Amino acid sequence: MSDWIELVALDQLTEGQGKSIKGPDGHCYALFLHGGQVKALDDECCHQGGPLGEGDLDGEGVVSCPWHGWQFSVDTGECLDNPGECVRAYPTRVENGRVHVQV
Ligand code: FES
Repeated sequence: MSDWIELVALDQLTEGQGKSIKGPDGHCYALFLHGGQVKALDDECCHQGGPLGEGDLDGEGVVSCPWHGWQFSVDTGECLDNPGECVRAYPTRVENGRVHVQV
C-alpha cells in the first residue's frame, strides 16, 4: 500500500532550484521545481549521503550532489555518471497549493 504525505507549500519552491525537506515520517526528501513540475528524490545521495536538495540543478533536470558532484536525473533518480547507482524518485502531486509525495 502506498500513501501520500504532505511536505511543503508549493510557493516555498523556486523554479530551477532544489530544497531539502524533512517529512512527517522523519525521512528527508529533495524537492525540485523544474519546468513548472515538482520532482522528488531521496535527499541522501547514494554515494556518501550528501544532501541532494542543496545541489545545483541544471536546465535539463540534472542535479549535482554538493559533496562530490555525482549527477542524478530528478525524473528517475538515476545516477548519470555512475551507471547502476540511483536514488529513489517519488511521484508528486500538488493539492490546494501543497506538495505531496507518494511513499
Ligand atoms: S555524497 Fe554525493 S557525490 Fe559523494
